Amino acid sequence: MINAFARQAEQAGFGEIMSPIFEDIGVFKRLGESTDVVTKEMFDFFDKGDPPQHLALRPELTASVCRAFAEHRPTPAWKVWYEGPQFRYEQPQAGRYRQFTQVGVETLGTDDPQADVDTVVLGWRFYQSLGLREVTLLINSLGDANCRPAYLAALQAYLSSNALGLSPQSQATLERNPLRVLDSKRPEDEAVIAGAPLMVDFLSDETAEHFAAVRAGLDQLGIPYELSPRLVRGLDYYTRTTFEFAAEALTSAQNAVGGGGRYDGLVEALGGPPTPGIGFALGVDRILLACDAEGVFADEESTVKVFVVDVTETNEALRICEELRAAGLGADRAYDGRSMKAQMKVADRSGARFAVIVGDDELAAGEVTVRDLRGDGGQQRVPNHQLVATIAQAVGSVT
Ligand code: HAM
Repeated sequence: MINAFARQAEQAGFGEIMSPIFEDIGVFKRLGESTDVVTKEMFDFFDKGDPPQHLALRPELTASVCRAFAEHRPTPAWKVWYEGPQFRYEQPQAGRYRQFTQVGVETLGTDDPQADVDTVVLGWRFYQSLGLREVTLLINSLGDANCRPAYLAALQAYLSSNALGLSPQSQATLERNPLRVLDSKRPEDEAVIAGAPLMVDFLSDETAEHFAAVRAGLDQLGIPYELSPRLVRGLDYYTRTTFEFAAEALTSAQNAVGGGGRYDGLVEALGGPPTPGIGFALGVDRILLACDAEGVFADEESTVKVFVVDVTETNEALRICEELRAAGLGADRAYDGRSMKAQMKVADRSGARFAVIVGDDELAAGEVTVRDLRGDGGQQRVPNHQLVATIAQAVGSVT
């Protein structure tokens, strides 16, 4: 999956960046002091220096890419892609892990809306190329430093005057970050959230124009999307275009298989020159879950073709496995002289196409019974010396 992503990113002009697994914690603090990712989920530690340096395992890569840009000052537009493990001390559950893998891209140094479209489309095409058909693209604009404050003030005022209708958790969030209240999935919060003011009604002319150009680009390329005016993201650095990819086949709350947007102030916050940026990260673990849920991958053919079931308490299983393996045919067996029924169960689970059964009858006759574990479930007796040829022919005809 990572190779497939790499190919598509390179085709679109992105070069690979490999950034460190851990960095000075200050880099990641720029993700926003009011986000869970920074306040609760960072794996942080002190090194052995004197004085010790406070470090953290990376929870994502956008901040590292912006740090690298601020440090090395490459020529814009700088287009990079990445892959690798990220770490967040979250409550583990289906699709939410403390170590997970992301692939992603970032474009720094342009705020051309066509860069936004290019970015979103790259993500969209990747899901399509994997064969996923039930991924929905949600987009929104979160405004910029000029128009967001008026919106935040309106939102804060509205939520504060309706605070009694909110869950205790959302009341606490409201104090720290009113925007994040919109992200609550708690049913108690639904009614208040439904009536909350929307960022789209507060966009400046310039920001609204930018968002319109992004939508027009997506329309022109025929990329389906849903406007999602309450979409907010878990990280604080976003400005203007924001988007998420939701896998409808995943029933869990964790159905976001990717997300991203603009972060026009992040490079500056990390000590670089004012530099706009846009990108996304896709969650490889969740994409694999979505692929399974949609049945995208064909069942893998097992390397073990034959499972030998031997109830004679002799060395027959040993001999037969060796003979088949020497002929290049995958073979496995059970140990410990287990019952026929127990061995057949293991044979069924093994993924092997055929069971080769040796009982006292077969042993006396110098034969084995070959049973088709799938197909019609038929079986036949085969003399020992014809077993390899029989299996080779059968496997050839079923693969
Ligand atoms: P994010 O939304 O925090 O954004 O993560 C992106 C994706 O990573 C999510 O949609 C999800 O698929 C996956 N993911 C996140 N946390 C976990 C977890 N605990 N377990 C499994 N998968 C997870 C970012 O990380 C931003 N850096 C994206 C970005 C790039 N924005 C601009 N450029």
